[in-house]
Amino acid sequence: MAYGLLKGKRGIISGALDEKSIAWKVALKAKEEGATFTLTNAPIAMRMGAIKQLAEQCEAEIIPADATSTDDLTNLFTKSQEVLGGKVDFVLHSIGMSPNIRKGRAYTDLNYDWFKQSVDISALSFHKMLQTAYKMDAISEWGSVVALTYMAAQRTFPFYTDMAEAKAMLESIARSFGYHYGKYRKVRVNTVSQSPTVTTAGSGIGGFDKFYGFADSMAPLGNASAEDCANYVVSLFSDFTRMVTMQNLFHDGGFAMTGVSEEVMQMMQNQQ
Ligand code: NAI
Repeated sequence: MAYGLLKGKRGIISGALDEKSIAWKVALKAKEEGATFTLTNAPIAMRMGAIKQLAEQCEAEIIPADATSTDDLTNLFTKSQEVLGGKVDFVLHSIGMSPNIRKGRAYTDLNYDWFKQSVDISALSFHKMLQTAYKMDAISEWGSVVALTYMAAQRTFPFYTDMAEAKAMLESIARSFGYHYGKYRKVRVNTVSQSPTVTTAGSGIGGFDKFYGFADSMAPLGNASAEDCANYVVSLFSDFTRMVTMQNLFHDGGFAMTGVSEEVMQMMQNQQ
């Protein structure tokens, strides 16, 4: 059921690669709730073509941008404002990639050039997005910016390797820029810390299947799906959350607050 939560709002949604992407679900939900928006992804991701299907469904224009390039981001905000007919009200950062994870490097054997790329793509790009928008004054008063993150920023998950550092930085940028953008234009900036989700980025992480099951058994509500995440993100873009800013918001069915669950205790017992 649609509530018209984003009626009249304009936005930019990054990171929709295929229909499993969290950003893909956010786009469909934002459309359903009445928003108009542009879609963006790295030029290389465009070649896969799936995003065109989403663009048709959402009547959205695609503006390619490598999120590590401030020139591309300037073009993204300029064109988006042209296409949408004014400043944007919401922005989704749904971007992450670690060459070290892709190439199976352990945390104790990281390649530092790749580490820099992980941080540039997955964290600095968020600062670049915000700084570009800030300098161009491209986000309306009371606008909302959300980035997706993972709990490895707070607690160690050995298989998450250098993405843990990237996510810690991403969350810190939300706090720091949230202060400055709040003062400047009452724009709020938050991160949503999502459950393990079966997507291209998610499943690329070593041991993902087993860990997905573990998290599902730990969380009293089970893992949050990509659709649930989209609902939450849309609520953060809406006017109902105007005073929420500089937060890292767990969207994980209660995983982060659970020490151990009866199901996990039972599994341990069964192994003895
Ligand atoms: P996905 O693989 O569908 O999305 C990642 C996106 O990042 C892709 O669309 C990719 O093209 C884009 N990207 C990579 N390099 C880029 C660049 N230089 N410029 C612009 N875009 C670039 O996977 P998913 O899971 O939807 O990921 C979205 C976000 O959610 C990421 O930040 C991820 O870390 C985060 N997240 C994912 C979880 C999971 O288990 N899948 C859990 C918690 C957070």
